[in-house]
Amino acid sequence: MDKLLLDGPSTLHGTVEVSSAKNATLPILVATLLCPYPVKFKDIPNLMDVSTMLKILQSMGVKITAVGGEICIDAGKLENQHADYSLVKTMRASVLVLGPLLARYGVASVSLPGGCAIGARPVDIHLSGMEKLGAEIQIENGYIKAKCKKLIGATITLPFPSVGATENLMMAAVLAEGETIIENAAMEPEIDDLANFLISQGVSVEGAGTSRISVKGVDINDLKPSSSESYKIMGDRIEAATFIIAAIMTRGDVVVKGFNPKHLTFVLDTLVKMGANMSVGVDYVHVKKSTRLKGTTIETAPYPGFPTDIQAQMMALMSVVDGHSIVTETIFENRFMHVPEMGRMGTKVTLKGHSALVEGVEFLSGAPVMCTDLRASAALVLCALVAQGQSEIQRVYHLDRGYERIDEKLTALGAKIKRIKG
Ligand code: UD1
Repeated sequence: MDKLLLDGPSTLHGTVEVSSAKNATLPILVATLLCPYPVKFKDIPNLMDVSTMLKILQSMGVKITAVGGEICIDAGKLENQHADYSLVKTMRASVLVLGPLLARYGVASVSLPGGCAIGARPVDIHLSGMEKLGAEIQIENGYIKAKCKKLIGATITLPFPSVGATENLMMAAVLAEGETIIENAAMEPEIDDLANFLISQGVSVEGAGTSRISVKGVDINDLKPSSSESYKIMGDRIEAATFIIAAIMTRGDVVVKGFNPKHLTFVLDTLVKMGANMSVGVDYVHVKKSTRLKGTTIETAPYPGFPTDIQAQMMALMSVVDGHSIVTETIFENRFMHVPEMGRMGTKVTLKGHSALVEGVEFLSGAPVMCTDLRASAALVLCALVAQGQSEIQRVYHLDRGYERIDEKLTALGAKIKRIKG
């Protein structure tokens, strides 16, 4: 298992370009299961979760070739419609294959993803939505066994705006008969990108980015790409926020580019309220040196609220500002695992149910710490950047699931960070 050695404190300077968004890449790769022809992509991020998704597609017979910086995915012919436990258990987003497989083949067998570090994360909303479209679903031996003659478009009102369920149902609706309307849909920008990809293949999708999405079903033979250009996936807003927070915490001067700052409106407004000094362009944020920030209160919520995926990084920042802050996590029930690890570096956080009281401290000190999940790992890296002395960050594979070459990108900004292969 690789680990990172990070010598702090650092002040970051320079420009960093974020990679394509992991959370947009995963559903869009899955959406190629709907296409009976090869689809090309550029700048697919080299991340563990992305390679897991590509393995799942390959295990069904999808052909994947890499040419220059592009990859070509050909789901023209599948050998099976089975997503095995051995792969699904490592990544919950694997369950997204259910919708397109059912829509195209009328059958799918997909392992239940099971729990994960940050919470139970059931898939009931995905399954009841598929049933609304006419699928018969049974759970057998740990697998979702789904079948249908043909999916039929319907109006589905989600009990909660689940990102994954919205994506799964959008993809299922593409080859269903008639129109599907998803009410109380998730509004995350990654859903918009999935809609853009589907539209680029000739599907009529309206309302993505709002709470009511309509997809008009098409015959598979009517799908065709609207251009010969490779599809380019949106920049990663979560990675961008992580670098923005790193720049603020280290009192650096950093341009973070390659994403749409409008996707981070809530986060940027919060940072400015805390005293951050930055200018915002069309596709970049320039963080300038500021005086010490002050504490604030945040509560995670579905988009456009404060993203749960930036909660841990925000808590790292709150740990080194003036005064107290309060963080309330409403999306996942177990997403404070970074708290005891950050505490090893000197942060002062008191947990009470779904809330955390964060007391800003003057100094952090380097320590051996262990990553527990993806965004918790990012929070540890942020603390280590400002801590006095060396931190040894173990179980970096969690970080590698969602941050492409983070050690190289931080080194280029002036951090003293070394990966020890293990
Ligand atoms: C996606 C993101 C993840 C992000 C999350 C919330 C990807 C690959 N992952 O995850 O990074 O943290 O959105 O913004 O895009 N739930 C149910 N039943 C369901 C589905 C969800 O109870 O059928 C619950 C979950 O347990 C969780 C909450 O709803 O507590 C949010 O889940 P959801 O929006 O579905 O997140 P994901 O799509 O898994």
